[in-house]
Amino acid sequence: MAIPKAEQRILDFENMGFGMFIHYGLYSQLGQGEWVQHINKIPKDEYAKLADTFTAEKFDAKKIVGMAKAAGAKYVTMTTRHHEGFSLYDTRGLNTYDVMHTPCKRDLVREFVDACHELDVKPFLYHTTVDWYNPDCRRDFPKYLQYLRDSVEILCTQYGEIGGFWFDGNWWYKERDWEEDKLYAVIRKHQPNAIIVNNTGGSARGAVGNPELDSVTFEQGRPTPMNREGMPKYLAAEMCHTMNLHWGFGAADFNYKSLASLIETLCSCRKVGANYLLNVGPTGDGEVPFLQEALLYGIGGWIRATGNAIYEGRPCEIVGEGKNFALRAGKNLYFFIHGLSIVGNADVTFGENTEGIRTFRGLGDEIKRVTWTDDGKEVGFKQNGEELMLDCNGYSYGKDLVVRIAKAELA
Ligand code: GLC
Repeated sequence: MAIPKAEQRILDFENMGFGMFIHYGLYSQLGQGEWVQHINKIPKDEYAKLADTFTAEKFDAKKIVGMAKAAGAKYVTMTTRHHEGFSLYDTRGLNTYDVMHTPCKRDLVREFVDACHELDVKPFLYHTTVDWYNPDCRRDFPKYLQYLRDSVEILCTQYGEIGGFWFDGNWWYKERDWEEDKLYAVIRKHQPNAIIVNNTGGSARGAVGNPELDSVTFEQGRPTPMNREGMPKYLAAEMCHTMNLHWGFGAADFNYKSLASLIETLCSCRKVGANYLLNVGPTGDGEVPFLQEALLYGIGGWIRATGNAIYEGRPCEIVGEGKNFALRAGKNLYFFIHGLSIVGNADVTFGENTEGIRTFRGLGDEIKRVTWTDDGKEVGFKQNGEELMLDCNGYSYGKDLVVRIAKAELA
């Protein structure tokens, strides 16, 4: 069976490869994650008082988007309204539970989208579908759905070009008719090139949904290779992850992933052609926590050492040993090599020496030259038909890239 031809916007999305998620809202002030209202059963009226103290004093869109860009992210997905029902944009009379009715009084979505346009990063807008604030969501669903569409229409028409929309919450009422066609029609009318995603949640990772959707999601998961044969439409895949265990700011969540594991996760996404969307959760006043900024800085350094591999490399038929794999980009191949050690002096560089041959199989072309992306040095190789042996040296003292990439030029 044939693989459907991908629309250009979906290919462009796949080539972005790496994005940054921002979870910011009233909840950020409590520092206990974005579900705190629901999980801690905070009465609605009491919770809504958080609007009176929302100043977003340190929310600097240009700084945050600049951080994402420096980290190598090509797009940033920001929560414009989360399940709490509060909007970070001017709802223009739809309700008063928005940023314009707080001491902040700045349309943070405008600032965010403007910063993205200025810095040449694609703005993606997260929007909840389930709403804990608007009583119509429980009481009068058709009326609520109109409110949701009107909200999204504002985002589609008032901020210029939007890279994509990221919906989340249909899993809350699985049995209901969300009238998805009508919602997506609003987007296709005003923003025909926007990517549309609707998160299937942790329980239905990778599930294919409405035909207007452009990508499947793998929330906090591991992306699996997608078999697109016979699919009615070519879909991209995206996996989103937190840096610790909360999306919204978790002041007492110290359970951070390491930079090495973030790098490996980015690689494992690209191995199957999925995008990696990595989250930051600004504090109540809008500042990205230092530790999160530091991890972004680290990823940016790694990506710069790897050239365009993570953006342009696409899955191919070549297989490596263990975690090693290869991606193809036109006349080039990228070999992702894990587990190399630092070579130096046994009194200071610990661990076993892992220099030596790494074998890849399934090559269809003849290789002309191989170099490391980080320092441009030649990598020795031997090719026997479909088998390639790369002579991998370890890292010179002073360096450890976690995953090192060799770029091959094809004859
Ligand atoms: C979930 C959660 C939500 C978070 C999202 C990010 O569906 O409900 O709080 O925004 O995942 O993927």
